[in-house]
Amino acid sequence: MYSDRFLDKKVTKRLDREIQALIDRVGADRKTLDEVFDKSTLLGLEKLISNRIIDILDFPISTGKEGNVFRGVTPDKEYVAIKIYRTSTSTFKHISNYIIGDPRFQSMHKNRRGIVFLWTKKEFKNLERLHEAKVKAPKPITKINNILVMEYIGDSKGAAPMLRDVKLENPESTFSTLIDFISRMYKKANLVHGDMSAFNVLMYKNQPYIIDLGQGVLIEHPQAHEFLKRDIHNIIQFFKKYDIEADETEIYKNVTKK
Ligand SMILES: Nc1ncnc2c1ncn2[C@@H]1O[C@H](COP(=O)(O)OP(=O)(O)OP(=O)(O)O)[C@@H](O)[C@H]1O
Ligand SMILES: [Mg+2]
Repeated sequence: MYSDRFLDKKVTKRLDREIQALIDRVGADRKTLDEVFDKSTLLGLEKLISNRIIDILDFPISTGKEGNVFRGVTPDKEYVAIKIYRTSTSTFKHISNYIIGDPRFQSMHKNRRGIVFLWTKKEFKNLERLHEAKVKAPKPITKINNILVMEYIGDSKGAAPMLRDVKLENPESTFSTLIDFISRMYKKANLVHGDMSAFNVLMYKNQPYIIDLGQGVLIEHPQAHEFLKRDIHNIIQFFKKYDIEADETEIYKNVTKK
C-alpha cells in the first residue's frame, strides 16, 4: 500500500505490516493514521527500522494537535517513545514563532516541512541540554525528519501520568524539584522551557520528568524572560491546590541570578 519508488521494497512491506498491526491493536481508523504517516514519516520510520533503532510500533500514547507519541519496542525489547510531528499547516504556524529569533536556527529552511524537521531537531537538542544539566527528562536517542525517538518514561502497563492527573504524595518536594529544574535549565542549559505546565511534566516513581521541549528557547531569545515568567507562574498556580505559596518575583530573581 505504501509502495513508493524511493522506499526499499522489503522495508515498505514490513512497515505496511507494522502499520496494519497497529491499526488492529488500537482500532484506530485508517484516516487518522494516514494523516500521521505521510511520506517523510514513512521514510523516517523505514530508516529507524532498517537501522535497528526500533522493531515494533507498539501503540499510540497520545494523539495531539501537533503530533502523536507512540510507544515503540527496540530489537533488544526495550521501550522507547516515538514522537511524530505532523507536517500540516497548523503545526507550522504555531512553531515558526518559536524558531524565528533562535540564533541556532538562523539559516532556516523556508518551506513548511523543513521547519517541522528543524523543530524536531530543536526538541532533540534541547533534551540533550537538559540531560547535560542533570534535569530529569527523556534522554534523546535519535531524530530523523519529523520523528524524535527518546527514552520512554513509564512501564509495561503504560506511560507515566501527567502531573495534573496524579495526587502527589509529597507536593512540597515535587514543587521544589520543579523550581530547581527551571533554575538548572536557565543556569546550566541556557534554556527556558516556554510551555511549563502540569501537562508537560510526567510523574514516574514519584519523580517529575520534564517533557515537550520543542518550544524551548535559549535565554538570548528576545522573549525568553517573558516565557520564563510564564513558566514560573504556571507552576506556582498549579501548586496552589496543594496549599503551597510562593513568590513569583522572588523565584524569578533566584532563577535568573547567575
Ligand atoms: N518520553 C515519553 N515517555 C512516555 N510518554 C511520553 C513521552 N513523551 C511524551 N509522552 C506522552 O505523550 C504526550 C504528548 O507529548 P508532548 O507533550 O511531548 O507532545 P505535545 O506537543 O504536547 O502534543 P500535543 O499536540 O498533544 O500538545 C504526553 O502528555 C505524554 O503522555
Ligand atoms: Mg505537551
